[in-house]
Amino acid sequence: MISARGARYDNPDGIVDFGNAENFLMHNLMTEYINHRRPFQWKLCTYNEGATGSTRLCSAMAGLVNDYFAPLTPISADHITFTAGVTALNEMITQVLCNEGDTIMLGRPSYGSFNKDLVLRTDVQLEYVGFNGADQFAPEVVDVYADALKQARERGSKVRALLVCNPHNPLGRCYPQATLERLVDFCVSEDLHLISDEIYALSIFNPTAQFTSVLGCGKDTPEYHNRVHVLYGMSKDFAGAGLRLGCLISRSKVVNDAIRPICRFASPSEISGFLAAELLDEKDLVKSFIEQSRKALFQSHRFAAGLLHEAGIKYYWPVDAGFFILMDLSSFLPLLETNGDAWAAERLLSKCFMDQKVDMSRGEVYHDERPGQFRLIHSFDQNMIIEGVRRIRKVLGI
Ligand SMILES: Cc1ncc(COP(=O)(O)O)c(C=O)c1O
Repeated sequence: MISARGARYDNPDGIVDFGNAENFLMHNLMTEYINHRRPFQWKLCTYNEGATGSTRLCSAMAGLVNDYFAPLTPISADHITFTAGVTALNEMITQVLCNEGDTIMLGRPSYGSFNKDLVLRTDVQLEYVGFNGADQFAPEVVDVYADALKQARERGSKVRALLVCNPHNPLGRCYPQATLERLVDFCVSEDLHLISDEIYALSIFNPTAQFTSVLGCGKDTPEYHNRVHVLYGMSKDFAGAGLRLGCLISRSKVVNDAIRPICRFASPSEISGFLAAELLDEKDLVKSFIEQSRKALFQSHRFAAGLLHEAGIKYYWPVDAGFFILMDLSSFLPLLETNGDAWAAERLLSKCFMDQKVDMSRGEVYHDERPGQFRLIHSFDQNMIIEGVRRIRKVLGI
């Protein structure tokens, strides 16, 4: 028998799982697309060209990047290295850029799994940078990072890289070009690498928002090429987390050459790579997939935000992209029950949500500066959102 969690879709007593950020709205289209292929050719049963993605897959991805990421100069297949997901790549890029004991800097809040993925097997430290209420997407954020870098260096840390997530998880905002230009210049001048996780690049649903990739920033010189690295994959924009395909996009030959040998421990599946290459090569299909996804995300975000508004729940705003809404439940924290310890109260509230069978990531895991932030996933059908919000309201007593 399967668990209540496993049966969540047709079991009203199951868990409403807002834990993983996936585009559930587009799975049908992706499934339909895959089922119309007849992908099994004998080559897909072999190691084929090796552990870093076939030339065809890398070329197809380069095509997507050139069409949608506006790089300064065209990206080609040899700038791309595939692995079995960005999760694996996060560890690999850390291993390649950092020695044991080195530090990677990143802003707060940050995608919760960076915590594990960059650290678990690398012996690298993370330096979380807080903004104290300042806008972390404004160009002036560079001064905050510069300050944090100076302090970390004074403490003896060897900071090797700055990691940003653009569009941001969990805030759902895009970095403006002016900010990225300053961040790229800052990293080059401070001898840092800039790692940009752009896994939500095409899941922008705010019609007034614009995605800028760091591949389109800085200068077209080796100094910049060697410092700027993008992480991308099929999990989010193409509703294909189960394909397990992630890739490094970097003009640095040194970095690609260093990553490729360790890809053998997390090599992309040939069948997944084939399906992705077929899809990416069909440019009209990609365009229509992205357009449909954006429309669906616009609607699901508006619907979920409307329910939260009705309930008097505050949430992070404005939002451009992604599948999530960061709710501010700080005014609902059960502080009396935790002797005023707000982080303990956040943990307790999270437990109450789980008791009511609604699973959400929470701010402490994201190294948020403020206790009481919970991430709701809106990329579901409306019934799931209604049921999730109903349970959230029950716990909050509103
Ligand atoms: C910012 C970010 N990076 C990476 C990942 C993991 O990607 P993958 O499925 O390619 O391992 C996620 C998944 O939630 C994510 O939100």
